[in-house]
Amino acid sequence: MTLARNDIARFTDMYGDSDTSIRQFFGPGRVNLIGEHIDYNGGLVMPAAISLGITATCRPRRDRIIHFASAGEPLVTTVQLDELIEPDCTRGWGNYPAGIVRELLVRDVPLQGTDVLFTTTLPQGAGLSSSAAIEVLTAFLLLTLAGNTAVDLKMVALLCQTAENTFIGVNSGIMDQFSVALGKHHCALLLDCGSLEYQYVPVRLGDCTLLIMDTRKARRLTDSKYNERRTECDRVIALLGTRAPPQGLAHAEWNDVASCVEDPVLLRRARHVITEQARVTQAVRELAEGNLLAFGQLLNESHASLRDDYEVSGFHLDTIVAAAQEAPGCLGARMTGAGFGGCALALVRSGSVDAFTQQVRSRYIEATGLEPAFYAVQTSDGVHEVTGASSGSTSSRTCCFFL
Ligand code: GLA
Repeated sequence: MTLARNDIARFTDMYGDSDTSIRQFFGPGRVNLIGEHIDYNGGLVMPAAISLGITATCRPRRDRIIHFASAGEPLVTTVQLDELIEPDCTRGWGNYPAGIVRELLVRDVPLQGTDVLFTTTLPQGAGLSSSAAIEVLTAFLLLTLAGNTAVDLKMVALLCQTAENTFIGVNSGIMDQFSVALGKHHCALLLDCGSLEYQYVPVRLGDCTLLIMDTRKARRLTDSKYNERRTECDRVIALLGTRAPPQGLAHAEWNDVASCVEDPVLLRRARHVITEQARVTQAVRELAEGNLLAFGQLLNESHASLRDDYEVSGFHLDTIVAAAQEAPGCLGARMTGAGFGGCALALVRSGSVDAFTQQVRSRYIEATGLEPAFYAVQTSDGVHEVTGASSGSTSSRTCCFFL
């Protein structure tokens, strides 16, 4: 990745003339291949950082003020480093970076005044973790500008999750921040969300392509039933009593759940978690052996479980996934991320991508009236500083900072 000259020009238009201390950082989005609603249940997930993401162009200031601006938006968030920072709904997306500043200050990390301009290529409200991207990016750039040469990325992921939980009010798990911080080009992360141990799994898709399908049905986690699902899982754990596995519900035995839980809704929630966990383990094996048909089948089963047992898909996601599963060259498809709108994922024979997108697009428009967007997944490294020769060609646009 090279320096984005357009963003530097925008930055100097906004904050004043150019000098050599301007630096750029990139925070990728993420797509979760399989293991949905598993992270906060202590299980295994398989996300990958992607090349769509957020770029921050920034420069230190001499005072104790941080400005966060977003290309194409009038709103600029101003944070005073010597004042207590509280959530403020008039700040809009600015609460995400403001929450990170607060979290760093609470930990006595010395920070300096900074001007920041964000630009993004992540589609809006699409479940590709734009909030984790801006959180991790903000923490990384502030720590780097403060002189840290080897930023502890695991610590950054945990700090950002705390900010999301306490400052934003979404009780999210660790998957998104972890993949944005520690992703690796050509790889997915196989992350054990209980122990935070992880390994990189090469994404080898042979003659297939992974396509992200954006339903364009925007969603906000804070508006959704995300926190409700977490509470339901906690209730199952409470009912399991001494049979509750210490690592979380993902490790529970189905027989134990069936004998301790009567509520049919809670039973379905637990069944999703336990079967999804088994699918992740199997997906790792199938991918390693190049069994793409079997991997695709697991994607289909994951979607059915999220739709019927966990009930987090909804009309738009179900429509696009059903259209995908019947389209030419498709080996499997499922919603990805928290659900309730946003994106789905399809594994498609590369030679059929055009026919596939044509058919899915027309069926989806017919059913919903919305025009979907398609992106071939390209993996990326996690958060990093952008160096190298400058380039004028970034396709950046207005930031959108909800997941
Ligand atoms: C959101 C959350 C993650 C995870 C997914 C569902 O993206 O931020 O922590 O729970 O939903 O897998």
